Amino acid sequence: MSVALAERPIMSPAPALRPVISFHGVTKVYPNGTTALRDVNLAVHQGDFCFLVGASGAGKSTLVRLLIREETASTGRIFIDGHEITRMPHRKLPKLRRKFGIVFQDYKLLNTRTVAQNVAFALQVTRPGQRHLREKVEEVLWIVGLEDKLDKYPDELSGGEQQRVAIARALVHRPRIFLADEPTGNLDPDTSWGIVQLLLQINHRGTTVLMATHNREVVDLVRRRVIAIEDGRVIRDEAQGSYLREGEATI
Ligand SMILES: Nc1ncnc2c1ncn2[C@@H]1O[C@H](COP(=O)(O)OP(=O)(O)OP(=O)(O)O)[C@@H](O)[C@H]1O
Ligand SMILES: [Mg+2]
Repeated sequence: MSVALAERPIMSPAPALRPVISFHGVTKVYPNGTTALRDVNLAVHQGDFCFLVGASGAGKSTLVRLLIREETASTGRIFIDGHEITRMPHRKLPKLRRKFGIVFQDYKLLNTRTVAQNVAFALQVTRPGQRHLREKVEEVLWIVGLEDKLDKYPDELSGGEQQRVAIARALVHRPRIFLADEPTGNLDPDTSWGIVQLLLQINHRGTTVLMATHNREVVDLVRRRVIAIEDGRVIRDEAQGSYLREGEATI
């Protein structure tokens, strides 16, 4: 070992081994008294692809909302990239949120703007004064396979294409973590499959992906990590999991 290395202070854990997301005993009770998450412990590493499954009301979206600090944990601690976000001051939240790309079941596109403008707008809001805006917009629309729809308006596109625009918009600021909350909920099976392929491709480029879904076919075909939530608790966390484990209640 070189002298320089031996003299370095001990720092642990090394950033590459540190989880990109970790939950330590997280409970969320909403103001109306509903307990949505109970003592959740979780570690997600850079480059992981995780499905989040569970019945309606299990707590999947709550977990997503805690990650971006749209909601705060009632007890426990959440770390993103080694930073505790549970008590992060509001002024630091924009920087935290720039680490995430997020898509939902409804695409939330601006109908009075073209595809390219929808994507560009996201970048202008999060990073004003961006250089090479047009190139960046074209690049992400190429990634999602919509390079020929730049000047179309959302209502001229199919549901699957609109979801691709939403994905492009979430990708344009190069997030480290991609959150998809029921992204195929409004789509037919073939189109859903295309969206999941796209998320796998995004993951293949090194982005951590967390996808909440009710789509059993997709989860069982892809065979990636499955985190199952029931009544706010993580009841199963498997590396190459399936939607249901034998004997588990139908969800
Ligand atoms: N803002 C809120 N205030 C109070 N209770 C809420 C709030 N949001 C969600 N809940 C409750 O918390 C629990 C978990 O809800 P959540 O939306 O996280 O479930 P989910 O797993 O995403 O369900 P779905 O599959 O239907 O999207 C449910 O009991 C729900 O009614
Ligand atoms: Mg939900």
